[in-house]
Amino acid sequence: MLAMWSRRLFVGAAAALAAGPVHAAKTGSDKPAVLGGKPVRTESFPSWPLVEKNDEKLLLETLRSRLWNRRNGRNTESFEKAWATKIGAGHAVATNGGTTALYAGLAALDIGPKDEVIVPPYTFIATVNAVLQHHALPVFVDTDFQTHQIDPSKIEAAITKNTRVILPVHIAGSAADMDAILAIGKKHGIPVLEDACQAHLGEWRGRKLGTLGAAGCFSFQASKNLNCGEGGCLVTNDRDLAVRASAFQNNGNPLHGDGKNRGYGSNLRMTEFQASVLHAQMERLDEQAARRSANAAYLDGLLADVAGVTPARRYEGCTRSAYHLYMLRYEPEAFGGMSKARFMEAVKAEGIPLSGGYHPLNHDDFLEKAFQTRAFRAVYSSGEMAKWRERNVTPVNDRLCGEAFWFGQTTLLGERSDMEQIAEAFHKIHRFAGEIGRG
Ligand SMILES: Cc1ncc(COP(=O)(O)O)c(C=O)c1O
Repeated sequence: MLAMWSRRLFVGAAAALAAGPVHAAKTGSDKPAVLGGKPVRTESFPSWPLVEKNDEKLLLETLRSRLWNRRNGRNTESFEKAWATKIGAGHAVATNGGTTALYAGLAALDIGPKDEVIVPPYTFIATVNAVLQHHALPVFVDTDFQTHQIDPSKIEAAITKNTRVILPVHIAGSAADMDAILAIGKKHGIPVLEDACQAHLGEWRGRKLGTLGAAGCFSFQASKNLNCGEGGCLVTNDRDLAVRASAFQNNGNPLHGDGKNRGYGSNLRMTEFQASVLHAQMERLDEQAARRSANAAYLDGLLADVAGVTPARRYEGCTRSAYHLYMLRYEPEAFGGMSKARFMEAVKAEGIPLSGGYHPLNHDDFLEKAFQTRAFRAVYSSGEMAKWRERNVTPVNDRLCGEAFWFGQTTLLGERSDMEQIAEAFHKIHRFAGEIGRG
């Protein structure tokens, strides 16, 4: 149905549905698309990335300048300054990706073999790969079911004499519970490195995510709310840490230091092309962030009375989510036992793109493959690895992965009517759950 529902009609219908049992309507013009009816929506959501005149101008200027790397040009350095200022960080170190920002951050914290880094299992694989690259052990702490963030009440039990960093992820751009995490870090003398790769302009009690711990890392990869194809940045208020991270991403030669003490590192540098695109894209970031927030708040309201579809809760301290993803959970019981796969198929058929969320990363084969490499076998005994496997128990996350799904950030960049269509699709599928079947 392409025509918009009026808010009054919509609320009335929603209330009736919420009150009534799941029933199979036999006919009706609003039959779900998965059963051959008309989809709620045929037009696509806003495309990404957006390219405007300023992107072309700045990129062309860089191209024509022939100053393509940061040693010669000035874009990367000025972007670092601009991003640090924007989010209220003392220092920023640009990198060629979010993964490498994390890699450099862990290097700056001197993480290495036999160290343990506390991570959430509900995240993108890169969070964990950055730890593995240093031949340290990722120790998975279970997820809080309501917020989908790392469960702070389970962190202390995971701390051992080898724990060297707590690495919370602000998943979806919403905040992990930074009051609790910073307090635990302080109590045990363990630095907190924030994976803010999805959290551009997200906030905890008015402070920007990424600036609360010892350091924070951002990604500017193509899907991100601020992007240049590939790119990343570490931010910190600790000058020495910034110098160590900048040295690590520049083959050991500190960019922000006095250049005398060359150390060990790699080449993780951002190019001037990437930085020029970031400058241009940043001009639109505030407006886009405000639009995502407004649409997300509206969608929260619309979904409040949809049984079986529950948006992830935000901690009270999360004063602003970046909404890189709009996360939800699906309960099959409310839809007559319809499987998540069938539900997703039905929603997609209505013209609403969605994703099934993360799988249980801590049970993924890639970890065992990493542990079988010569480096890991040289560092860890089979007894140590057996202990790690024993500790790798995350029942809440396992369950969450079965129920969670999300919409990407571009879904929130359109109009309020787009949000109404999302809710309308859920209602329609709920109404016809019996006919759609369990799948
Ligand atoms: C939570 C999280 N951490 C780390 C990364 C890694 O960033 P990149 O893809 O820029 O290396 C991503 C990006 O996808 C991410 O979502």
